[in-house]
Amino acid sequence: MNFDQPIDRSASCCIKWDRYAGRDVLPLWVADTDFQSPTEVLTALHQRVDHGVFGYTQPCQALIDEVVDFQKRTFDWEIDPSWLVWLPGLVSGLSVCCRAFAAPGEAVLTSTPIYPPFLKCPGAMERELQTAPLALTGGRWEFDWDAFRAAMDDRTRLYLFCAPHNPCGRLWERGELEELAAVCAERDLVICSDEIHNQLLLDQGQHIPLATLSPEVAARTVTLMAPSKTYNIAGLACSYAIIPDAELRRRFVAAAAMIVPHPNLMGYAAALAAYRHGGEWLEAQLDYLREARDMVQAAVDDLPGVSMTHIEATYLAWIDCRELGLERTAEYFEDFGLGFQAGREFGLPGFVRWNLGTTHANTREAIARFRRAIEALS
Ligand SMILES: Cc1ncc(COP(=O)(O)O)c(C=O)c1O
Repeated sequence: MNFDQPIDRSASCCIKWDRYAGRDVLPLWVADTDFQSPTEVLTALHQRVDHGVFGYTQPCQALIDEVVDFQKRTFDWEIDPSWLVWLPGLVSGLSVCCRAFAAPGEAVLTSTPIYPPFLKCPGAMERELQTAPLALTGGRWEFDWDAFRAAMDDRTRLYLFCAPHNPCGRLWERGELEELAAVCAERDLVICSDEIHNQLLLDQGQHIPLATLSPEVAARTVTLMAPSKTYNIAGLACSYAIIPDAELRRRFVAAAAMIVPHPNLMGYAAALAAYRHGGEWLEAQLDYLREARDMVQAAVDDLPGVSMTHIEATYLAWIDCRELGLERTAEYFEDFGLGFQAGREFGLPGFVRWNLGTTHANTREAIARFRRAIEALS
């Protein structure tokens, strides 16, 4: 559990580092970390490989029991195993929701800025995208309910929600969730609640699955979860939807049928080991990520023309560079050796997203480069 240990990812066909292969650019974009997964996950994968037979596989009862238990012990959410629908990834879950709950010509709403697939899935499924901006109020990203209501019309069928929020780092409070649920109920929207970052809490506080608010909210909600972000196993493709309402579940499963493949069997093995044994590793990782967040926050607070809101959850910092007046913000920083993800992909140009999931040595180097990039403007 040494998060300072540098691991060379260059020969592993990794998306994050390959983008800048052969260039001196630190990759701080796509949301995985440079950390090795918990030892118990590696052991479970070795054991699965040693078995040597990799045919069609379903989630074993132990994994189903573990997910049910995880929901209970982590969120006090009692789920029925029949509510689970296994998926290879959450993005396919977003697309399946678009297909299942809005007809062609009908609309899907989301709030910006947002993780880019939220903006792409509706169009890819030939549904209309509607967006409502979040508001930056008193140094905190919040819902703007007037803008939210104004963005909807009588074609809106589905709201794509992200909790905790990528890229704004918000751990939504109960009151905000209740208001969201009430506004969606006004128009009888289905809510797809992407809760992939639910264990990555940097502040004190509790992630509240939206569907736990009440049976009425649960009946209109598809919750998407996975251990993939928490334990850095996204490449193993194992996720799940929790859909309490039988009719929503039927529509979701029908929309996925013959298109969405099963999860990878290695993913099942890793998910079980991660949920069962990953607690101590996760606490250590969270401490490490908190230190990285605090380093980046201090540096940003100290520099002119940039700011960031406090990151309550996720390992992603969302940096406001609008005052710098740059034409292409992410490209400017790339010239200084920083591979950020551009805010325009999230629906908000002038920002960059900074992935904190790397060694402190890389974070310190990134901060030094960021400082140079800002100073070069004065
Ligand atoms: C909010 C959110 N949803 C989904 C994903 C990716 O999901 P998957 O790789 O399971 O498709 C990410 C990855 O960054 C994410 O941040």
